Amino acid sequence: MCGIVGYIGDGNVYDVLIKGLHRLEYRGYDSAGIALVNPSGSLNVYKAMGKVSNLENYCKDKNLEAKAGIAHTRWATHGEPSDCNAHPHYSEDGNLALVHNGTIENYKLLKDALTQHGCKFHSETDTEVLVQLIEYIKIKNNCSLLDAVREALKQVVGAYAIAVVEKDHPNRIIAARKSSPLVIGIGEDEMFLASDATPFVEYTKECVYLKDEEVAIIERGEPLKLVTLENKEAKIDVTTLELSISQLEKGGYPHFMLKEIFEQPSTLKDCIRGRVAEKGRRIIISGVMDNAEKFLNAKRVVIVACGTSWHAGLLGKYLIQDMCRIPVEVEYASEFRYSNPVLDERDIVIAISQSGETADTLAAINIAKSMGAFVYGISNVVGSSIPRETDSGTYIHVGPEIGVASTKAFTGQVMVLTLLAAAIAQLKGTKSPEEIEEIGKTVNKIPSYVEKVLKLNDKIERLSLIYTYARNFLYLGRGYSYPVALEGALKLKEISYIHAEGYPAAEMKHGPIALIDAEMPSVIIAPNDHLYEKIVNNVQQVKARGGSIIAIVTEGDTVIRNIADHVLEVPEVPECLSPIITSIPLQLLSYYIAINKGKDVDMPRNLAKSVTVE
Ligand code: F6R
Repeated sequence: MCGIVGYIGDGNVYDVLIKGLHRLEYRGYDSAGIALVNPSGSLNVYKAMGKVSNLENYCKDKNLEAKAGIAHTRWATHGEPSDCNAHPHYSEDGNLALVHNGTIENYKLLKDALTQHGCKFHSETDTEVLVQLIEYIKIKNNCSLLDAVREALKQVVGAYAIAVVEKDHPNRIIAARKSSPLVIGIGEDEMFLASDATPFVEYTKECVYLKDEEVAIIERGEPLKLVTLENKEAKIDVTTLELSISQLEKGGYPHFMLKEIFEQPSTLKDCIRGRVAEKGRRIIISGVMDNAEKFLNAKRVVIVACGTSWHAGLLGKYLIQDMCRIPVEVEYASEFRYSNPVLDERDIVIAISQSGETADTLAAINIAKSMGAFVYGISNVVGSSIPRETDSGTYIHVGPEIGVASTKAFTGQVMVLTLLAAAIAQLKGTKSPEEIEEIGKTVNKIPSYVEKVLKLNDKIERLSLIYTYARNFLYLGRGYSYPVALEGALKLKEISYIHAEGYPAAEMKHGPIALIDAEMPSVIIAPNDHLYEKIVNNVQQVKARGGSIIAIVTEGDTVIRNIADHVLEVPEVPECLSPIITSIPLQLLSYYIAINKGKDVDMPRNLAKSVTVE
């Protein structure tokens, strides 16, 4: 949800910033812009609608000489995507330029006040208010840029990660954050700032994650300095990155999404590593072991998440209820936060987020903490806000997910939830040692089963050609396969723009069955589990209305094979682990349908990977 990047050093400022913007493009691609502070005392701001490549074309014949610079890739919130709403925004006198990720909630109030003082605005964004306010304070108080930024941020309600440069000071960038991510890379004689570490991973592994309401003074030839909004010096905690550059490249695949689908055997291995011991007999989730009392005494679990992570959360409900006999509720974080929830210290809230930055999930965490609940995070991005805000948690360790449509993060989340449920069950004794061993042993085999499922690739590619021009799809499943149906439908609609609905298969006859005709294919997830006989009936009901059926079934299935138009066979696994296996053919089906339609699967329209606004 908007990416910001900044650089100061002897390298080619423009090149570093553009490369950084490409890495952050998953956060938004409505427009891009750059501000370069030229040593001769000019501030050049260039912007272009659309992707970063448009900005590069625009900059071809421009003066790109610079000592320092900041840049931005936008996901529009206030004001349509346009050149004038693109960042950086600059002050009336052209002395300051600013980039921002977040939302200024009281921008209207501030804008009205500034307008009364004679400020003129050139965009519809909330961000422009910030740069005008900083300039206004700087002139009125005759103070430094740092002091003006601190004072301005004290007046702001909302979320921000900002970077500001000043024409007269080409050797300095001021940056700050609250509720939106910002990390500073510390190289040798050079410094970087960015929404995540990907823009500078090839230059330095040393970085500092800013905390809320910290302001960074990034100055050439000087060590990094952090202060609070009250101008008190803040502690600098340097982290060493474990990220490698190959994780950020397509590695021979045409798209990140396909690479990430095919990476799943190895990402699942990384996710499981160290968590299944003694040949499957013991599950080790340190967050459970370290907080045994909390889990033993929990009267309820509430799972909060958004989108794909919410689908993983729904599976978490089935897993935890089944294995641990603890009641579980699953809430959209955006609804939970405004639902006046009832929680106390015997509730465990599990927040699931790939990015670790989703604004609604963060807000839900804060509410849960304020009510005394124990908050457990499941995230992918090390050092992101959610792991830092939660009491304990587990990383899914699947590596950076760059394709906007989540694939390997979903299977990683489901795997962690399975292990978490098994670890709690082991602690509470709600599963016997033999049952735990069966789960542990199967978990260890999942990566090789996933490898087998991926062999369906060519068949699914051919199958996709038959259904590319369908206008609507229905995805049906029961029990553990119901969240898989929801996730399959989401994957299809977000990258191919085909309307798709996920539904509990038995609910279909209470309404959606009216939609079924020869034009409306149904994807039915029907592995051999305790609801198999039931879903066979649902398959028959669709067939009887002339609908065509793509069924995901267990190898050796004989019944559905004779009813469905197409079957995709997956290996047999215990019911609780089947979602990881059955979701993979659905990822491939969506991918190929979107490709057949010529869509940009890695950057689907209107979406962004990290949703840091409400
Ligand atoms: C869909 C997708 C989104 C995210 C949602 C939450 O493919 O990726 O639905 O799952 O925006 O994001 P995180 O997990 O980062 O909180």
